[in-house]
Amino acid sequence: MVKRKIKRIAVNTGGGDAPGLNAVIQSVAIAAANRGWACFGIRDGFNGILFPERYADSGVMRLTRDRVRGIGHLGGTILGTTNKGNPLHFPVTLPDGTEKEIDRSNEILTYFATHEMDALVSIGGDGSLTIANALHKKGLIVVGVPKTIDNDLDKTFTTFGFDTAVGFATECVDRLHSTAQSHQRVMVVEVMGRYAGWIALHAGIAGNAHVILMPEIGFDLDVVAEKVRQRDEDGRQYSIVLVAEGALPKDGQREIIARAEIGHDERLGGIGDRVAQGIAERTGKETRVVVLGHLLRGGSPTSFDRLSALRFGAAAVRALDEGHTGVMVTLGLNGVEHVALEEVAGHMRGVPLNCDTLQTGRDLGICFGD
Ligand code: F6P
Repeated sequence: MVKRKIKRIAVNTGGGDAPGLNAVIQSVAIAAANRGWACFGIRDGFNGILFPERYADSGVMRLTRDRVRGIGHLGGTILGTTNKGNPLHFPVTLPDGTEKEIDRSNEILTYFATHEMDALVSIGGDGSLTIANALHKKGLIVVGVPKTIDNDLDKTFTTFGFDTAVGFATECVDRLHSTAQSHQRVMVVEVMGRYAGWIALHAGIAGNAHVILMPEIGFDLDVVAEKVRQRDEDGRQYSIVLVAEGALPKDGQREIIARAEIGHDERLGGIGDRVAQGIAERTGKETRVVVLGHLLRGGSPTSFDRLSALRFGAAAVRALDEGHTGVMVTLGLNGVEHVALEEVAGHMRGVPLNCDTLQTGRDLGICFGD
């Protein structure tokens, strides 16, 4: 830890957007201003630095108090974001049409040096924090802020965006009970979450779903169908099945919309249809599918997410002021703390099979397809 004089910092948002990003930006900008530091926002991940010509005003904008006033409750990010164009593996098309990846991270370091930017606050999920860690190793002063609706980052109890996503998914499940019951149907609800089942588990239990399928527990459609049949026999002729997009059948394959390619991660989706069809074939019941998708990423952050975001933003600035670098702010047992980026980057956190929330679901009789 080195105490240093900071005058100018930059902040960026990377990966999929999540409710609460604007609250972090606001908090970083105001906490910086209150220390007499100038704060700048890099547009669209690092694109503002890598492609300044794309921006009419500037790829890096000054974040004054006035600029960030009134944005804390808004969804999305005023800076823009991208989950493509990782500067360490930047996709380029060669003259012969083939694609390859090049490392453009030195352009970012050069930008910081020539514009006398002293530090970066990088707000993002696993991918963005891995980039932040690499930039830190190359000498940039960096503090990370954990963001994702998926809640799949290690070393923090929660990420902002998750509570908003779960709240919305729960409301949707609540609404589906009455129509499912009226028509005696099976409603299958597919939710995001990538390779972790946090959203499905939390919204499923909170919303009284009867079946929850998640990536951490391989599912068997025969078991799911048996649960639906059992409910019918007991006189409850409808069922709600919550499926995480990354859920995978025991001995089966994950459903994907698009394979990973240079510059793109794999895109998940479609498991809801497969589950609905499997249930219909096995039970003869009418099924319908609702895919919540990107609706989970929109809207205003809940007060919990807003508060976490404001706490994280201010804590990131405090961490820089105290001389930290290469760390991510986290929500720990005793409030906001920090951990080394190295400990977080590349470490996905799925739902532990022994967690009490999962156990709660089992105690309540929810079927997990196993
Ligand atoms: O990581 C957030 C997330 O919303 C995942 O839950 C989902 O799989 C992915 O991003 C979708 O990404 P895109 O916005 O590229 O469709």
